[in-house]
Amino acid sequence: MTTDDGSTGIHGSVIGPLKSAMLSEPSEVFACGPPGMLDAVRSLCDEAQIDSWLALESPMACGFGSCFGCAVETKDGIIRLCVDGPVLAGNSLNGVSSTGRVDPK
Ligand code: FES
Repeated sequence: MTTDDGSTGIHGSVIGPLKSAMLSEPSEVFACGPPGMLDAVRSLCDEAQIDSWLALESPMACGFGSCFGCAVETKDGIIRLCVDGPVLAGNSLNGVSSTGRVDPK
């Protein structure tokens, strides 16, 4: 665990400790947190050819797949986080943008 202010765990970004942990060749990495951190984890895992699983967050208006308010774009097309996520394989994403949102039109 890392925190920006060092109040819990390691002070600073998770990327340094993750790089150290990757020396033990994990088979998978699971991450939740802000979009920028998720994108850094995704990128690092892709480079190391390690599977990553990212818990994406989105406002959810309906929660059952009808409003597309939680839609995000993946390599395979648009998916709805409420019914298809919210945890996605990192290698299914081109990146995690700060908004992560797409226009359903
Ligand atoms: S919250 Fe409406 S489709 Fe996901």
